[in-house]
Amino acid sequence: MNDTPPVCDYEGSGYRTDFWEGRGREYEDLSERSALRRLLPAGGRRCAHLGAGFGRMTGELSAFDQVIVLDYSRTMLREAQAHLGSGGRYVYVAADIYRLPLAEGSCDAAVMERVIHHMADVPAALRQVRAILAPGASFILEYANKRNLKAILRYALRRQTWNPFDQEPVEFVALNFDFHPAYMARCLAEAGFCTGRRLALSYFRLGLLKERLPLRLLVMLDRLLQPTGQLAPFSPSVFTRNVAVGAHPPAALDGPLFKCVHCGAPLRDEGEAVICPRGHGRWALRDGIYDFKEPLSG
Ligand SMILES: C[S@@+](CC[C@H](N)C(=O)[O-])C[C@H]1O[C@@H](n2cnc3c(N)ncnc32)[C@H](O)[C@@H]1O
Ligand SMILES: [Zn+2]
Repeated sequence: MNDTPPVCDYEGSGYRTDFWEGRGREYEDLSERSALRRLLPAGGRRCAHLGAGFGRMTGELSAFDQVIVLDYSRTMLREAQAHLGSGGRYVYVAADIYRLPLAEGSCDAAVMERVIHHMADVPAALRQVRAILAPGASFILEYANKRNLKAILRYALRRQTWNPFDQEPVEFVALNFDFHPAYMARCLAEAGFCTGRRLALSYFRLGLLKERLPLRLLVMLDRLLQPTGQLAPFSPSVFTRNVAVGAHPPAALDGPLFKCVHCGAPLRDEGEAVICPRGHGRWALRDGIYDFKEPLSG
């Protein structure tokens, strides 16, 4: 139960207002949207948006019949609900990516941006994502690239101790990691993904450039440079499109959505809660959010 890695807890955080809204990050936001649009499949049945936060990018997933908006933070999910609306295509789930309560093979796509940089155990997280995906499903993953131009320059000028060319992840602040593209490629392959496209993003993430150059020009230049990531990304952010390879698990797009995190059994839906038929617990559906952070007592 407690043997999963630590979670970077955004409960009660002001991420939306302190980091995004009115904080001069329109360039980053727009370039991420453009990359996501380039990589998303034309459509599908069920997409899991993992670590969706306040749903900044969830609106981009409009080609899916259903979107699982999943995050560890209940307050983030409430903001997402306020932003995207309750019910309808969206299913809100409070859960840990290291212990996904979604049935194996239950999704035909997953998206995870600005999340894996908080994860100390990348292989474990990717195994969880792979398990919920049907064979052939797409997984769009964004990660923070340690081998970026700024880090290379700082290292060359001896302003930074860690080597951007070293393939091991660097934890520059507690639970904040940058990854080498070769490391991430290896982890994805080991988890059962075949990486197709890779885009290099956000080369112009510099205050001076963002102040001086028009936003539209920056986004256009960013779009032009994105495909260079296929060969070798030196940008701070990298988007990848990966396909779940192999025959397992079988697709389960029509079956029950939730599984017991203890035994894997499909959970029974009882209106206000979902229940493990083998007695491992009940998890609440509270104000439109399925809450797997803790089971209900009694
Ligand atoms: C930097 S925010 C990014 C949010 C959103 N993806 C975006 O780009 O706006 C990181 C999000 O990942 C979530 N997160 C971090 N670790 C998680 C975990 N182990 N399980 C589920 N969510 C997690 C946090 O709660 C937070 O909402
Ligand atoms: Zn169970």
